[in-house]
Amino acid sequence: MDYNAQLEQAIDQLHEEGRYRTFIDIERQRGHFPHATWRKPDGSETPITVWCGNDYLGMGQHPAVLSAMHEAVDAAGAGSGGTRNISGTTVFHKRLEAELADLHGKESALLFTSAYIANDATLSTLPKLFPGLIIYSDALNHASMIEGVRRNGGAKRIFRHNDVAHLRELMAADDPAAPKLIAFESVYSMDGDFGPIEAICDLADEFGALTYIDEVHAVGMYGPRGGGVAERDRLLHRLDIINGTLAKAYGVMGGYIAASGRMCDAIRSYAPGFIFTTSLPPAVAAGAAASVAHLKRDQALRERHQTQAKILKTRLKGMGLPIIDHGSHIVPVIVGDPVHTKVLSDMLLDRYGIYVQPINYPTVPRGTERLRFTPSPVHGPKELDHLVHAMDELWSHCALNRADLSA
Ligand SMILES: Cc1ncc(COP(=O)(O)O)c(C=O)c1O
Repeated sequence: MDYNAQLEQAIDQLHEEGRYRTFIDIERQRGHFPHATWRKPDGSETPITVWCGNDYLGMGQHPAVLSAMHEAVDAAGAGSGGTRNISGTTVFHKRLEAELADLHGKESALLFTSAYIANDATLSTLPKLFPGLIIYSDALNHASMIEGVRRNGGAKRIFRHNDVAHLRELMAADDPAAPKLIAFESVYSMDGDFGPIEAICDLADEFGALTYIDEVHAVGMYGPRGGGVAERDRLLHRLDIINGTLAKAYGVMGGYIAASGRMCDAIRSYAPGFIFTTSLPPAVAAGAAASVAHLKRDQALRERHQTQAKILKTRLKGMGLPIIDHGSHIVPVIVGDPVHTKVLSDMLLDRYGIYVQPINYPTVPRGTERLRFTPSPVHGPKELDHLVHAMDELWSHCALNRADLSA
């Protein structure tokens, strides 16, 4: 085989479909988020404002987080030096796991190097623990859940997105004695819509199933202590396994599950994705613990975040732009074509210093390509005005459709 020709063909196909991804090299400036510097391929530099980051609350530059990380580096050095089983468990890891178990009202928590790995490792291990397990997975679940479910070799059923009636139909058709698990998300990050947590828990009770929720786009941001939508809705006790990230609202890195002591003990003991990989650096664990602890108390920051999202949505809607609004913190503007989406994103960056990455298939279905804005408490009124005016001008410039506001 001509390996190079094969690779070229694969890459060309992405170019033709307008789906080829390019990295934008940015230098984030501590103390100045969301401002950053864009290092262009020709070596020149331009100041930009980041509008598509998942450091939703700006915790990546919070003094409490940074000082915890500095202290831990000084105390413990750089890497952890091992897997959790072989010299890679430190007091920093244990402290963070205790903080997370407390956050979700669970007996235990288990750290992974990312929420992707946490989903993949846990979901692919569960059928080993529960032979014959059937996993019911929402059609729009994140790639990490899909991968975990796909790899586990067990039975799977995909229910239509957020469609509890379909889920019920699928569950009712299976052997009542089979062990079952429902895997879903609390906030779906591309549309910003919420999963029907309570209705799913009711079904789980009825059919004797376990519940597995991904709260990656909710932890830190929802609930009186940042415990996610399940905490906000007082449903924590009805969820068997909660997955979260330390890389988005908490501004650091890493992922976890929180569950019963026995569940965490079993996953810890059987999941290759936990066992055979180096643990997080102590400084990362220390920074994440400081962030989780801080956000348990800072309800005002959560409220400012929601207010920012509401303001941006109201203003974009007021100009007739097709935004999706499910009442969460995510602001998707649908363009509906991969080439137009890329052009808009390029023009925003080049002309206005506004960085928002185009979101294309396969991340979202074809025909729903979009710009996905993530306003945060560190975006000020000036940045917001600049973005709204830029979108207004570009929407007209590209002659894109607007909603009829008189209707
Ligand atoms: C729903 C969902 N789950 C899991 C992940 C993975 O999180 P992490 O970045 O910690 O690997 C993501 C990442 O974007 C996500 O959107």
